[in-house]
Amino acid sequence: MADADTLKAEILKAVAEAGDLDALEQVRIAALGRKGSLTEAMKGLGGLAPDERRAAGQALNAAKDAVAGAIEARKAALGRARLDSRLAAERVDVTLPARLRPAGTIHPISQVMDELQAIFADMGFTVAEGPDIEDDFHNFTALNIPEAHPARQMHDTFYLPPAADGRTMLLRTHTSPVQIRTMMATPPPHRIIAPGRTYRCDSDITHTPMFHQVEGLVIDRATHMGHLKGCLEDLCRTFFEVDDLPLRFRPSYFPFTEPSCEVDIGCSRADGELKIGAGEGWLEILGAGMVHPNVLVNCGLDPDHWQGFAFGMGVERVAMLKYGIPDLRTFFESDLRWLRHYGFACLDQPSLAYGLAR
Ligand code: PHE
Repeated sequence: MADADTLKAEILKAVAEAGDLDALEQVRIAALGRKGSLTEAMKGLGGLAPDERRAAGQALNAAKDAVAGAIEARKAALGRARLDSRLAAERVDVTLPARLRPAGTIHPISQVMDELQAIFADMGFTVAEGPDIEDDFHNFTALNIPEAHPARQMHDTFYLPPAADGRTMLLRTHTSPVQIRTMMATPPPHRIIAPGRTYRCDSDITHTPMFHQVEGLVIDRATHMGHLKGCLEDLCRTFFEVDDLPLRFRPSYFPFTEPSCEVDIGCSRADGELKIGAGEGWLEILGAGMVHPNVLVNCGLDPDHWQGFAFGMGVERVAMLKYGIPDLRTFFESDLRWLRHYGFACLDQPSLAYGLAR
């Protein structure tokens, strides 16, 4: 049987050397467990002579107490050390700058649509919508563009495969079908804008197959060309934030308006930089006119009692001009660097106050 003092010394050394709580537990089991060295030594006492047994028993009990005490002390020390290292590792440095949360930006198209809606809201317009997938009637026929009309070819229409009932649907080539839907759905007077997507089978530096327009329609008893001019002047001056912005109304042709015009805004170029405002140049920005009597009749309105004007404007075009975006195609490339550069922070959203304050 191992000598109690030798056993004690070995175990105390192992306790002192235990580097963590798990190792210490192993030492405890090896000494005091059911098959531990001290436990085994205690069991061996029975085989000794009574006088030897007393002395050895005392020595073993003392060793056991010493070992148990040493284990408790070491356990407390290791526990403290573990807590200290956790506290050190999980320490929060409250003086570090806050981590920035990545925030998205508003696409320039959405921004410009919102600006236009805010401006028209100030003028008493409401927003109307129509489907992107249209039929021939709303996109063409009702707009005074009959079957064989050359304007149909001009529009480079995307047609969908014919449906079971033989009808061929198409992607609307302009927002003007919303004029038709509005006049057919509700009685006049009307004062609406229709912002939305439009589609033409066309793709080059200045055309994308999908683009955006904002349509306008005003129908009342005595609405005339003067109202059209005033409305578009207010629109352009507010939108481009140039109070004396000159506008030029050029005679033009659209099947659904008569007379028709194209509207240009003044600009100048100095050192290759385009500036919106009074100058030697002109930029075309929208098409407009007095609603053709045939269109009114097609929508069930009597042209002797109702008249008005309509206009259609390309959103990409005015966004490019206002915000100096040089290339149309970049609008739809979803390049994050472009979006971060040209996008708008949410707080830049226009409010009604923004429109009125001008
Ligand atoms: N719909 C025409 C286009 O897309 C624009 C327009 C709208 C012209 C309303 C006159 C009146 O070119």
